[in-house]
Amino acid sequence: LRTKYIKAVAEAADEAALEELRVQAVGKKGEVSLKMRELGKMTPEQRQVAGPALNALKDEINSALAAKKSALADAALDERLRTEWLDVTLPGRGRRQGTIHPVSQVTEEVTAIFADMGFAVAEGPQIESDWYNFDALNIPPEHPARQEHDTFFMHRAEGDNRPPHVLRTHTSPVQIRHMQTHGAPCRVIAPGRVYRMDMDQTHTPMFHQVEGLAIDKDISMANLKWVLEEFCRAFFEVDKVELRFRASHFPFTEPSAEVDLRCSWKDGTLKVGEGDDWMEILGSGMVHPKVLEAAGVDPAQWQGFAFGLGIDRIAMLKYGIPDLRAFFDSDLRWLRHYGFAS
Ligand code: PHE
Repeated sequence: LRTKYIKAVAEAADEAALEELRVQAVGKKGEVSLKMRELGKMTPEQRQVAGPALNALKDEINSALAAKKSALADAALDERLRTEWLDVTLPGRGRRQGTIHPVSQVTEEVTAIFADMGFAVAEGPQIESDWYNFDALNIPPEHPARQEHDTFFMHRAEGDNRPPHVLRTHTSPVQIRHMQTHGAPCRVIAPGRVYRMDMDQTHTPMFHQVEGLAIDKDISMANLKWVLEEFCRAFFEVDKVELRFRASHFPFTEPSAEVDLRCSWKDGTLKVGEGDDWMEILGSGMVHPKVLEAAGVDPAQWQGFAFGLGIDRIAMLKYGIPDLRAFFDSDLRWLRHYGFAS
């Protein structure tokens, strides 16, 4: 019995095998235990010999099991140390940091440039009432301009007959809100998100505008032109910019002009101030008397200009990005490519 178990313990491959041996040998119904039970049937003389021998055997097997168990644990640890080593000389993995989105960056730049020219920042809600988005801006309910705006209407519950709210289609309602609360004179910009159902290479359903509004006693189109040229020079960091004022129509300005910026696309890079391309960047004009009236400002005393500048458009121009939709895809490879993420 002794030879059998001592040998088996020495050869056991793992802890499970050891445990099996323990049960077989010294467990309650193990071979050694059964032998010990037979002591009771022996003569006292036999028992005096067999008893101590069996006890010694039991102890010997137990300590062999314990020794083998710790040998196995040592071997397992050696194996782990051999395989799970760590190369502390490997270079660390850089942690990528988030960055400001190009549109936010451009909004901040625009705000800073206009701040230098004395424009404060005004804000309004993105969910706007019909009245602020349209009526107050001289766009009455049946006006065709309402269709042109591709408006998103907010759903109303059945039986709720209040006029619908809309996702503002432009930042112009902020003109009204600002004049209502601050009156004239004023000089503000209002950057923010606007929404229209439109989607192609240069349009996304959500985009960004900066509204500009300057009201005083004798503000003219000439002031508008200077402010915009000054802005473009600072924003595009060029000495010379060329703006093209195209006669246009907005219900809330009279006269109205759309403004294009001279630029060139060469080999995928963009230059502002040269070339034969024109990029439309904003709508503008002299604030319509009806708009001043709607906002509680007396058109007999006050006049001024307003403009609505497409932030995403000028961001595309500044960074030479041909497709506006990519701005809002959250594609890290794209953001990194243009240096907007690390
Ligand atoms: N709100 C006009 C638009 O979204 C732009 C604009 C603003 C035009 C102010 C004139 C004056 O197209």
